[in-house]
Amino acid sequence: MKNIRGIVFDLYGTLFDVHSVAAACDTYHRGRGREISLVWRQKQLEYTWLRSLMGDYVDFEQATRDALAFTSRQLQLPLDEAARTALCEEYLKIKPYPEVPDALARLQAMGLPLAILSNGSVNSIRSVVAASGLGLRFKHLISADDAQIFKPHSSVYKLAEQQLNCDCSELLFVSSNAWDASGARHFGYPVCWINRAGNAFDELGQSPDHVVQGLDQLADWMAAQLIVSRS
Ligand code: LAC
Repeated sequence: MKNIRGIVFDLYGTLFDVHSVAAACDTYHRGRGREISLVWRQKQLEYTWLRSLMGDYVDFEQATRDALAFTSRQLQLPLDEAARTALCEEYLKIKPYPEVPDALARLQAMGLPLAILSNGSVNSIRSVVAASGLGLRFKHLISADDAQIFKPHSSVYKLAEQQLNCDCSELLFVSSNAWDASGARHFGYPVCWINRAGNAFDELGQSPDHVVQGLDQLADWMAAQLIVSRS
C-alpha cells in the first residue's frame, strides 16, 4: 500500500452503526426494535439495488422511508406516519462505531485526505457526519446522488476518483459491506474490509486486500505501511 494517496470510506455500517436506530424502534414496539432495524436495513439495501436495476432512482432517504413502510407491514408492527417520520429522522443521526473517532484522527494525522463515498443522499451524509461532530475529518463527502444510481454501479466509485483527482489504484476503499467492497475491488480500488461480526465475505469474484475487525486496526496497519514506505 505504498502509493496510497487517500482513503475513501463507505458510511452506513462502516463508520456509522445503522442499528443504533434499534433503540428508537423499540420505543414503538417494545422488544422488537432490533428485529425492525435488521429487516429495515436489509430492505433498504434491496431497494437501492432494485431501483438501480430498474433505472428508477430515488434518493437514499426515500429508499429508507419506503423500506421502513415495508418493514412495518411485513412484521405487522404498526408505525403511523408520525412514527415513521421520527424513525427516519433518527437515521439522520446514527452513531459512529466506538473506535471510529480516534481512528479517523490517527488516519488524518498521517496526512492522507479522507473521503466518504456513500449511497446516502447529500443531505443524509451531511446530517449524519454533522451530528457526530466528525465533519473536520473529511475532505470530501461524496453522494451517489451525483451519479443518480447506487453502489455497486461503477459510476458511483468513479466519483471518488474524480473528486480526489487520483486513480483508484492510489486510493484505499474501506467498507464493512462485503458486496460494496467487492464492487469497489472490481472497479479497481485496493480494498480494506472491516469485518466486525466475523462474517464470511461475499462470493462475487473479488477478495479484499486487507481485513480488519475495526477501524483502529486499519489505523495500526496504515501506520505500519507508512513506516515501511518511508524506510
Ligand atoms: C453506503 C451504504 C452502502 O453508505 O452502506 O453507501
